[in-house]
This record gives sequence, structure tokens and C-alpha cells, in this order.
Amino acid sequence: MMRIDAALKEAKKMLENVADRPLFEAQILLAHFLGRDRVFLHAHPEERIDADGYFELVKRRANFEPIEYITKKVSFYGKEFFVEPGVLIPRPETEILVDEVSKRLKGEEIVAEIGVGSGIISIMLKLKFPNLRIIATDINPKALQLTKKNAKRFGVSIELHQTSYLDGIAEPIDVIVSNPPYIKNEATLEKPLSFEPKEALFGGERGDEVLREIIDRFFTMDAKILACEMGYDQKSSIHEYLQAKKEPFLIDFYKDLAGLDRGFVIQKDRV
Ligand SMILES: C[S@@+](CC[C@H](N)C(=O)[O-])C[C@H]1O[C@@H](n2cnc3c(N)ncnc32)[C@H](O)[C@@H]1O
Repeated sequence: MMRIDAALKEAKKMLENVADRPLFEAQILLAHFLGRDRVFLHAHPEERIDADGYFELVKRRANFEPIEYITKKVSFYGKEFFVEPGVLIPRPETEILVDEVSKRLKGEEIVAEIGVGSGIISIMLKLKFPNLRIIATDINPKALQLTKKNAKRFGVSIELHQTSYLDGIAEPIDVIVSNPPYIKNEATLEKPLSFEPKEALFGGERGDEVLREIIDRFFTMDAKILACEMGYDQKSSIHEYLQAKKEPFLIDFYKDLAGLDRGFVIQKDRV
């Protein structure tokens, strides 16, 4: 047993090489371990805790495991979603993809998401536009299970299919959205990324192969809008690839909050 203030001091030291805010992460982990909030830790520094159990979690984090996989929680668009090892941890920049799609929706469309992961994009769109019909796919069954759990948490309904791209989906889709894997297969990953599922990260030898496949499929369908997240260095390759398309379209690239190219929206009906 150990006092809360002493345990936090020790944990902070253990996390100094891993976390930008070691004390904050030490507090998050302890609050999670105790099933309390961080205010409790401030209010009860003298309380004694089972230090072994707590330090097990701290050691995982000190070994670079993302904190979200330890607490099984992630914040996205101001809401708390479940996350689990085996499914990509949502990134804040994906909130911009939700906004870019939202700007172009009337609210009654059929939207298809390719690679739903934890469900954050589809669920946020459904919360913003309750009359959308959303069909979402993933090749990873764990992702579909997690989306189901998150959709239940927020009381929304998403139609889920375990399939590649939109294979086997016969419904007339209006809008396609995707944050697909877009990292080069050969890229060396930072340590925390190595905890995340490979099929959520790697998009092929060049990195943009899955994106190109999605673009190709979009141009064979009646869907009018395609919105995708992409890598910061993929704008010119995507732009070049689109030059070969015969059908008229307009493309808007968007940037993330760091000012890096981060995605695009193609519209067929704005030309
Ligand atoms: C970068 S993650 C995005 C997850 C989630 N949409 C998000 O933004 O956090 C990409 C997702 O696409 C899935 N995926 C990869 N290839 C796929 C394919 N061919 N068809 C459908 N989903 C695929 C992965 O399993 C993963 O869940």
C-alpha cells in the first residue's frame, strides 16, 4: 500500500521518457485504476492505494503502450468513446473529416463509411444528422464489434458489414467517407504506433493504394461525394491520379490544425 501523492510522484518519474505530460498521465492512470476522477486524487493525497496494481498500468505506459489502450477510453469531438487494442485509436485530426462531410450534407442521404474502426466518424455524423442512413464496413471484426458498442452507448444505429471496401453493398450510396490506412508499408513506426493494428495503418507500397482504390470505386458508382483523410505528403499524388478521370468533378483539399494537407472532398455534382 502507498499514499496517493507518493504513488503519483513515483509514476511521474517512470513516465518522464514516454509522456509529454507525465504527471497528468500518471493521474489519468490512477484515476482509471481507482474508478474515480482526477479531482479525487487532489482531494485525498493521503489515501492509501494498492500500488502494485497501479504500477502494472504505469509500466505498460512506460513501455510505450498508448494510454487509450490502457484506459480503453478516447475523447473524440468532445465525446468519450470506447477503444480497445486491435482497433485504431481515433485521432483528433479526423474531427476535421467529420466537419468537411457535415458541411456538404443535407441530412437525408445514404452515407457509406469504408473502414469504420471504432465508429467515431459514422457515429458523429449520425448524432449530427439523425435522419442519415449510415452503412459502414470494415475488414476487422473487432472494429465492427467496437463500433456496435459505441453506437449503443450513443443510442444510434449504424448498419455494419464485415467486408472489403463496399463489396456486397447494393444500396444506392450518396456519400462515401473514409479514413483509410495510408502509411507506406515500409515506413518505420514510432513505438506507440506499433501497438496499433497493421491493417489500419498501412496502405500499400506507396501508401496511397487504398485511397486510389476508393477513388476508383467512387467513380464507378452513382455516389456524388467522396471525402477522405490522407497522409500529409499525398496531395500531389492524389491530384495527379485524378487527372486520368474522365467524369467531371471538383476537388477540395483540406488541411489539419498543424497546417498539413490532411484530406480531400471530391464532388461530382458541383461542376
Ligand atoms: C485508419 S483506420 C480508421 C478507423 C476509423 N474510421 C477512424 O477514423 O478512427 C482504417 C480502418 O480501415 C479498415 N480497413 C483497412 N482496409 C480495409 C478495406 N479494404 N475495407 C474496409 N476496411 C478496411 C481497418 O481495419 C481500419 O479499421
